[in-house]
Amino acid sequence: MIIGLPKEIKNNENRVALTPSGVSELKKYGHTIYVQASAGLGSGFKDTEYEAAGATILPAIEAVYAQAEMIVKVKEPIAPEYSMIKEDQLLFTYFHFASSEELTQAMIARKAICLAYETVEKNDRSLPLLIPMSEVAGRMAPQEGAKYLEKPMQGRGILLGGVPGVKPANVLILGGGVVGTQAAKIAAGLGAHVTIMDINLTRLRELDDIMPANVDTQMSNTYNIREAIKTADLIIGAVLIPGAKAPHLITRDMLKEMRPGTVMVDVAVDQGGCIETCKPTTHEDPIFVIDEVVHYCVANMPGAVPYTSTLALTNATLPYVIQVANKGWKGACLFNEELKRGLNVVKGEVVYKGVADAWNLKVTDVNEVLAAAL
Ligand SMILES: NC(=O)c1ccc[n+]([C@@H]2O[C@H](COP(=O)([O-])OP(=O)(O)OC[C@H]3O[C@@H](n4cnc5c(N)ncnc54)[C@H](O)[C@@H]3O)[C@@H](O)[C@H]2O)c1
Repeated sequence: MIIGLPKEIKNNENRVALTPSGVSELKKYGHTIYVQASAGLGSGFKDTEYEAAGATILPAIEAVYAQAEMIVKVKEPIAPEYSMIKEDQLLFTYFHFASSEELTQAMIARKAICLAYETVEKNDRSLPLLIPMSEVAGRMAPQEGAKYLEKPMQGRGILLGGVPGVKPANVLILGGGVVGTQAAKIAAGLGAHVTIMDINLTRLRELDDIMPANVDTQMSNTYNIREAIKTADLIIGAVLIPGAKAPHLITRDMLKEMRPGTVMVDVAVDQGGCIETCKPTTHEDPIFVIDEVVHYCVANMPGAVPYTSTLALTNATLPYVIQVANKGWKGACLFNEELKRGLNVVKGEVVYKGVADAWNLKVTDVNEVLAAAL
């Protein structure tokens, strides 16, 4: 298959969808890979490394789209890319169609095949191509929190781990899923006293078994949250209710009960945030202060660490990219249900219910579309 790797053109996106080692894996199966010049630079990979792995470097994005049967990307295509997409071209990337009608309509109009990372789903309902980014954001959260707890950054001026003779900071984590677990590990490793709250008692039991002694678990409810925020130095929001907006576990009035300089990192901001006063911020301007409480609400945290994020993402995506390249999209989706669940838009038809529901469009049975395409 002819595979194209364009450079991401979305603002501040430094990740890349294939590393040089990914290229050499694909070459083993005889595939042809065109890489846009400087596509990997933001993540630390030079054109010469891609060439050494067997890719051909093309100077312009248009040439990559023109040559490729499959485009592998990180972020959804943006307006300047729409016209480059060819009928029947396969795009394998994050789309998040439910958040953009314009993108949905553009992909329908281009009659492309859109295989979305975010809906590739295992039988146990886990989302293997979303987990790596939650792991990155989870591990970043205490790091960012520690930074903004410093006095010059408007925080309380407390060191997460304390020192001999001085108590460590209290870290409260709301949600003990992927983000919450990774955040707890890092915060505990830095020596903080950590409390993880979740509504899932089974999950709290598992966490209690595996976490070190400086991590407590507690049932998440309004009473416990109100009590915990009074002495928390750092609060990390990490809840998710799949397919729904995050619940506001910390409401506006609760800020007054916190100590000045408390820091809140709401990782769940991409789902609306679990802190009422949260609104999305960027890496250029990551925080704002309300009632002397520092809010960090960056919606694309992994973007700040593109080297780690690219490797984490491609570790997870490459096995699927290889399957699709080897079998073609139809063969791969018929062979692997996980990939079939990733199909969102196929040759002008919406085949993913969530996307159709979001924009009041007709949903076509994915099996019908696959059968017709054979
Ligand atoms: N900002 C970013 O850059 C970034 C990056 C990655 C992920 N995220 C977001 O982080 C959030 C968490 O993702 P995840 O992968 O950890 O999800 P997950 O499904 O693994 O975990 C969510 C947890 O929240 C718990 N929960 C639900 N309601 C709760 C409540 N009322 N109180 C306490 N816990 C509750 C669930 O039981 C579950 O354990 C998501 O919104 C995700 O989109 C943001």
